[in-house]
Amino acid sequence: MKIILVFVLFIGLLFSCEQSNNSSLKYESDISQLKQKLDDIYKPGFGEIMGFIQHHHAKLWFAGRNENWDLASFEIHELTEGFDDVEKYQHKRKEAEIISMIKPSLDSVRKAVEEKNISQFIDSYKELTNTCNSCHKATNYEFIEIKVPDFQPYSNQVF
Ligand code: HEC
Repeated sequence: MKIILVFVLFIGLLFSCEQSNNSSLKYESDISQLKQKLDDIYKPGFGEIMGFIQHHHAKLWFAGRNENWDLASFEIHELTEGFDDVEKYQHKRKEAEIISMIKPSLDSVRKAVEEKNISQFIDSYKELTNTCNSCHKATNYEFIEIKVPDFQPYSNQVF
């Protein structure tokens, strides 16, 4: 009788081990499915963020030139967000390592806008644009050359 009891307990133990093995396997597969889902979540590409930056770089110029300081300040905010996104979403790209080089010139434009100083705005905007190109050169994208815009392409917005 004792032997039968021990045998039943032993089988029970084996069964429960098997179950916990199965559930840890299930957790592993759940985790790898979650990881896959995280990888599939939309993440903007480097070039895509740069397109966003280009757009706000242009708008900043027309806002500042027209001394529309509220709009200029908003555009600086958008630009800053774009550069933050490079750090957030593209930090694995080697090129992103030098993204902070843009900060001093972005700060100068911000200061000019805060002080509503048009000549300081123009100078610091040119400096900002030069820094865009310095980074493009440093990352072997020298063929992407940014310049101060010639004309206002946004006919659907008042600057
Ligand atoms: C990290 C340094 C860095 C800085 C600072 C930087 N860029 Fe870029 N930019 C890049 C890299 C790298 C690429 C190429 C991205 C890719 O692989 O798609 C790029 C690409 C671009 C493109 C091409 C996108 C396209 O699809 O045509 C534009 C436009 C651009 N940048 C604008 C700017 C502007 C405007 C600024 C400044 C306000 C700026 N960039 C500052 C690194 C930088």
